Amino acid sequence: MTATATQPLTAAQAIETRRSIRKFVQEPIDQNDLREVLRLASLAPSAWNAQTWRFAVVQDPAIKEQLREAAYGQAQVTNAPAVIVVYSDMEDTLQTVEETAHPGMGEQGRTGQRATFDGAFGGLDVAQRGQWGLSQANIAFGFLMVAARSLGYDTVPMLGFQPDKVKEILGLPEHVQFAGLLPIGKRAEEGFPHHRHSIDRITKFY
Ligand SMILES: Cc1cc2nc3c(=O)[nH]c(=O)nc-3n(C[C@H](O)[C@H](O)[C@H](O)COP(=O)(O)O)c2cc1C
Repeated sequence: MTATATQPLTAAQAIETRRSIRKFVQEPIDQNDLREVLRLASLAPSAWNAQTWRFAVVQDPAIKEQLREAAYGQAQVTNAPAVIVVYSDMEDTLQTVEETAHPGMGEQGRTGQRATFDGAFGGLDVAQRGQWGLSQANIAFGFLMVAARSLGYDTVPMLGFQPDKVKEILGLPEHVQFAGLLPIGKRAEEGFPHHRHSIDRITKFY
């Protein structure tokens, strides 16, 4: 199924045709499409609109090679034209939380947003509130895969890497937490057909 930024797949088509792709067409990714995929992912919801997710986009071959080493040599990291590193930065979120108040709510909204976050997270340590931030960033990670597919791109989500090494390579602070690496490009293989639990196996209806 083909798609472009001007003729995107529907959400259902994107979800249905997404599968993990580890071999990509060897061509650079269109930079406008890349930005559009990121923009769509940034529309993901988050509690109190915290938007804890941050993206690091790696297209430099030398840095991709370093990431591949940090990912136990997994070849899809260097095979993809770009790798989107999705992480949560809860400390940045807390320091700049007024930015996430809706402008329509004015100064009262900004003050309220600050009070909400200070109240909710002031008593937690960096790791505990980092975990909360990650739970929000994971939502954007999911949106990112569907947004990419809807614009005709393919991805493979990855958690098989050494976080400390990736932080060092990208110069990220110690406190950030990773949703995952996401190699992205155009598919050069079909991937595996879906194998999933049935709805009845995983659902209780009340
Ligand atoms: C959080 C997460 C981490 C994953 N880590 C890796 C990984 O490190 N390497 C890899 O090849 N695939 C990884 N996968 C891909 C899964 O194996 C794949 O999503 C799953 O088998 C379902 O296949 P599908 O994505 O083709 O539907 C990961 C998937 C998720 C969601």
